[in-house]
Amino acid sequence: MLKRLQLFKKNTEKDIELFDLIKKEEQRQEEEIELIASENFTSENVKKCLGSCLTNKYSEGYPDKRYYGGNKYIDQIEKLCISRCLSAFDLNKEKWGVNVQSYSGSIANMSVYLAFLKPGDIISGLNLPDGGHLTHGFGLLNKSISHTSRIFKSVPYGLNNENLIDYDQVKKICEEYSPKILICGYSAYSRDIDYSLFRKYADSCGAILMCDMSHYSGFVATGMMNSPFEYCDIITTTTHKTLRGPRAALIFYKKEYENAINSSVFQGIQGGPNNNKIAGIATQMKEIKTKEYKRYISNVNLNAKLMCKKLSIKYKFNILTGNTDNHIILIDLKNKNISGAEMEFICDKVGITLNKNAVKGDVSPFNPSGIRIGTSAITTKNYSNDDILQVCFYLDICCKLCQKIKNDTSCINLKEFKKNAQEDYNTELTEIKYEITSYLKNRKKFSLKRELSSLLRF
Ligand SMILES: Cc1ncc(COP(=O)(O)O)c(C=O)c1O
Repeated sequence: MLKRLQLFKKNTEKDIELFDLIKKEEQRQEEEIELIASENFTSENVKKCLGSCLTNKYSEGYPDKRYYGGNKYIDQIEKLCISRCLSAFDLNKEKWGVNVQSYSGSIANMSVYLAFLKPGDIISGLNLPDGGHLTHGFGLLNKSISHTSRIFKSVPYGLNNENLIDYDQVKKICEEYSPKILICGYSAYSRDIDYSLFRKYADSCGAILMCDMSHYSGFVATGMMNSPFEYCDIITTTTHKTLRGPRAALIFYKKEYENAINSSVFQGIQGGPNNNKIAGIATQMKEIKTKEYKRYISNVNLNAKLMCKKLSIKYKFNILTGNTDNHIILIDLKNKNISGAEMEFICDKVGITLNKNAVKGDVSPFNPSGIRIGTSAITTKNYSNDDILQVCFYLDICCKLCQKIKNDTSCINLKEFKKNAQEDYNTELTEIKYEITSYLKNRKKFSLKRELSSLLRF
């Protein structure tokens, strides 16, 4: 045994190549401005669960009904997790249950569809270019992109001219197509949802109403956004976005759907659960009930609102819908004459991570006109109001550099833009990166209006 342990230690010590990369990623997370709306920094306690002995254990089945022995503690952990999830969302145990075994949000959504639908049945969700998720049935004309539009027939709804959910279209789709599952919830939308309308339209065609609250579940748990539990039958959520837990997902179901959901997860689509993640979720669900977490979520939205204000008033960015009810800010860059992919590329080069995003009217989500920004991760890092204003300033600088590269070099496509940026604007990129890294290192010491070198005054 001792020999085996020594060998194990020697092997891990030897894996410098891998651990060096992990160290670098840790440093990148430390040194960059994280604005990806679906990301967050989980706690040390959650990380301890993920790296614990629980990863060794197989436990196919559910508490007290396992296919393997040795699960007496695993059963207790899963039961604790279930009870904390229900309590985090103030749910009545008689009416609601939750499956905590899904490996991820995509698998959770697929498990729901497969619990109720046959291939070819109709689903309707928010179209991906309008803010829906791949797993809500995304496809392009005659081409299926996500399996959800290949296996099922997807009839998506979109946004109206004000960039808000087109409830009239939802009504029409329910009348004309009678989807079996009507999906609400989104990946890139900054406003709250009228669940009562979705319920009305789902009832009009006998559809199951499913909500995917993956992005904003932290806001639902703290009562800062409308609750889907009042109106929906099934609610899915990832646990790593605003909930700030491990990478996994939950499926809440009305008790009448318990068997359908549980058998769809196991044995339907998954084998043994990731017990280390289930423990991580349990840890996080305890935190959700604290005053600190409620304050955190409130700050996430205050920071997002501050960014909306500053970016639109001072820097003339076009914020879709003008503001946000959650952590997401959607920006249409058409008035800046740059694309989302160009902005994402330049930001990435200088240590700001965000993603390109489709806005209404874009034909392809692969070359969209906008970007999506989120404030969950920077709020976890306790960014102050001054820090938020500084981030807005850096975004403006990146935008201006994109404009400069386009004007000076008149590049015709993204490939050329990237090539020109790297070859001819390396000095500017390095300088902005240096400026951002120094700011982050000395965050509290810097005054807001720093003197920038002439290079950065575009
Ligand atoms: C609304 C929504 N649902 C599902 C998912 C998929 O989650 P995962 O990446 O864990 O599969 C995402 C991921 O971004 C999402 O935004």
